[in-house]
Amino acid sequence: MDDRTIVQVTAWIKCYLTPFIFRGFRLRWAEVACRLNGQVIWVAKLANKRILLGVTGSIAAYKSAELVRRLMDVGATVQVVMTEAAQAFVTPFTLQTLSGRPVHCALMDADAEATMGHIEQARWADLIVIAPASANFTARLAQGRADDLLSAICLASAAPLAVAPAMNQQMWANAATQANVAMLVERGVTLLGPAVGEQACGDVGAGRMLEPDQIVAKCTEQFETGVLAGCRVLVTAGPTQEDIDPVRYISNRSSGKMGFSIAAAAAEAGALVTLISGPVSLDTPARVSRIDVRSAEQMLAAVQAYEAPDIVIAAAAVADYRPLQVATQKIKKQAGSAQLSLEQTPDILATIAENRGDMFVVGFAAETEHLEKNARIKLEKKSLDLIAANWVGGERGGFDSDENALTVLWQNGGVELPMAPKEKLARLLIEIVAERFDAKNSTENS
Ligand code: PMT
Repeated sequence: MDDRTIVQVTAWIKCYLTPFIFRGFRLRWAEVACRLNGQVIWVAKLANKRILLGVTGSIAAYKSAELVRRLMDVGATVQVVMTEAAQAFVTPFTLQTLSGRPVHCALMDADAEATMGHIEQARWADLIVIAPASANFTARLAQGRADDLLSAICLASAAPLAVAPAMNQQMWANAATQANVAMLVERGVTLLGPAVGEQACGDVGAGRMLEPDQIVAKCTEQFETGVLAGCRVLVTAGPTQEDIDPVRYISNRSSGKMGFSIAAAAAEAGALVTLISGPVSLDTPARVSRIDVRSAEQMLAAVQAYEAPDIVIAAAAVADYRPLQVATQKIKKQAGSAQLSLEQTPDILATIAENRGDMFVVGFAAETEHLEKNARIKLEKKSLDLIAANWVGGERGGFDSDENALTVLWQNGGVELPMAPKEKLARLLIEIVAERFDAKNSTENS
């Protein structure tokens, strides 16, 4: 089979089979297609991104079905929320079938609130896209209304908001609409379009919704901040395993999710990222180089072999102790209790910070008590530029969960990042790291 045939066969499978195939499997196919063809023909640019797609009452709502598919094609998880008027143009069932998730429509829906309530949806989203955004919904958004599900979610969310207007050209040109749009842009809302052309009503002018592919491209841009463009960033993640004998080891419950999300966010921000990971079962984020290690000793060696990073972020849960001696044979069970003598592992972060040069060093603090006090002690003791402290153990624990909350501290300052999905938290942390990194460089150069 030559390359062209492979692409054609892949396109055929995508076209005819994907509506029936589980979404994750579809994404695998995309990756396989990339490899078979020997070049990148499909990149999951929105992998791990949660897009809340708001559909409002406009004839362009028929294009939302295509938009859902296009967003999913590039890896996004799409949650559709519809206004009542939107349902006159496209059915929730259509969008539910395509997105593979229940579509939410009503604010006062006891069942929906019990599963994923409006506040939870507002927190869930990495990006809210309103496409199409009718003149009426744009006005309601500008007023900050919360009298239907979609407007309430927009009001309750800290996620970036993008609107793709779709309306008659005269409605778009109206001073009221223009004032509403200007107000939204002033508040940081991203305007996607509208396009100029022939309209469903026969008019010609500005007011057409952008095409789904154009909206997807703009959504992708939202995540590519470029705040770390060209920086060399080293991230450590996951647990370490310290051998007791050939079959047993000491370790902890770190899943690597926090560190992997940070590596992904740094790559999105334009950095050249190397991720040094302990044993985890996670896929390597796009555009990240990964080195796998097992023990603290190996992690230290890998970190030291990496020459002059601009920024180091140590999210790994390195074992503090290891057995003084590793038994060469499996230790046999004996009557009574057994003792294990332990010694300290090398402190990787402290070693990096000692020989830092211009490097910007970020540590983590995993605490079960006195979070801020203990984190500040680590900040000072290990001479860090910044520390991200989180609770571990118990219900609000950051270990092995999909969500976390961070208290980010630096000398004479700090900020709280409330509970959120780790991917989202990582992006916020990277924004702060970039800001502090720039501030440090400008102070040193002045
Ligand atoms: O992996 P997840 O399941 O997503 O969970 C995320 C997390 C809870 C592991 C993560 O958010 C976190 O807190 N990582 C740091 C865990 C830790 O070891 O904290 P610590 O307070 O014991 O260590 C302080 C700092 O020193 C850390 O940056 C750690 O990487 C570093 N350290 C610790 C010991 C050691 N021998 N060498 C080190 O470099």
